Amino acid sequence: MAEYLYKISAAGRVNLIGEHVDYCGGKVMPCALSMKNTVYARPNGTDTVNLSWTDLPDKVSLDLSALASCRGLKHAKYHAGCAYFWKEAGHRVVGCDLLMDCTVPFGSGLSSSAAIEVSTIAALATVAGEAFDPVEVALVARRAEHEFAGVNCGIMDQFASANGRAGHAILLDCKSLEREYIPVGLGEHVLIIANSKKPHDLVESKYNERRAETETALRILQKKLDVSCLADVSARELEACKAMLPELIYRRAKHVVEECERVGQAAAAMRRGDMETFGAILNASHRSLSALYEVTGRELDSLARAAQQFPACLGSRMTGAGFGGCTVSLVKKGEEEAFKSYVAERYTRETGYVPAFYPAELSDGIIIENL
Ligand code: GLA
Repeated sequence: MAEYLYKISAAGRVNLIGEHVDYCGGKVMPCALSMKNTVYARPNGTDTVNLSWTDLPDKVSLDLSALASCRGLKHAKYHAGCAYFWKEAGHRVVGCDLLMDCTVPFGSGLSSSAAIEVSTIAALATVAGEAFDPVEVALVARRAEHEFAGVNCGIMDQFASANGRAGHAILLDCKSLEREYIPVGLGEHVLIIANSKKPHDLVESKYNERRAETETALRILQKKLDVSCLADVSARELEACKAMLPELIYRRAKHVVEECERVGQAAAAMRRGDMETFGAILNASHRSLSALYEVTGRELDSLARAAQQFPACLGSRMTGAGFGGCTVSLVKKGEEEAFKSYVAERYTRETGYVPAFYPAELSDGIIIENL
């Protein structure tokens, strides 16, 4: 990579708790991972962004004056969307060569797309000689995801990818974007990520459907309650309004309201080092995502169940959007190998898929190096 001038990376993320609440104004608790998308970059003096990948044969050139027409591209739509909206936000975008190297497994629920978007914007700013605000980068990256990739996502993934801090979780209020960094002190435990290897299918449409269901819930509840988002509704208020909501919509809202309560409890448990309670909250979150929100499916349920049955595992749940992807589990130190073989054996017997495991190494969000 000697001929490139900069090496810019942005992290994938694992969300510890607060699932499917970011787009309802709730708090979430993601951590940036050492699995990341790295962009090797150099300006090229043209009006073209040339993209290449270390693990794909594709080479794509984006004409900076025709970015809007790149929505249909397969891999390059993320980069095109980022360049388009970064420029639209008033920033200088110059022609450059970008080589991508991604270690976040694609379609695994660990935010490979956010890592690609955030690192692309950071690279565009760096080659143009501009400093940038990581919060603005996250917001522009999300626009690219909405309008070029078609996923009506919340802000969690892009925010964590851009603003993560090694060794910490971000307790992010998705309504105000206020954040606190909580040191991830797990005592005698470690976090293990397990990939179900179930290919994601129809994630975009089911994700957008869930989001629309929560919007329906909010609209109905607003007839009675003075709230601007679902996260502001208390469990008691929701129960009092139950009769107003169709049964399915009620279940979706119940997940959101209770998951928001769990985030507060989990953050408190993390701060006082109470891993038993933290683990129990992970289990409760998975149950709710399975029974009420219905985003787990057979594979994630099997993977979480196998982990939860392992004696030295304090808790396990799906992380990310669901419909396939990964779980995160809290496991006693020294039991990692036994945990993996126990879970793999049961999961493969039940589903036929062979899982992959990754240690959760918590890293900074964006990292820039001059080469
Ligand atoms: C995806 C989205 C996030 C969030 C999670 C679910 O990762 O990109 O905004 O909604 O799903 O918590």
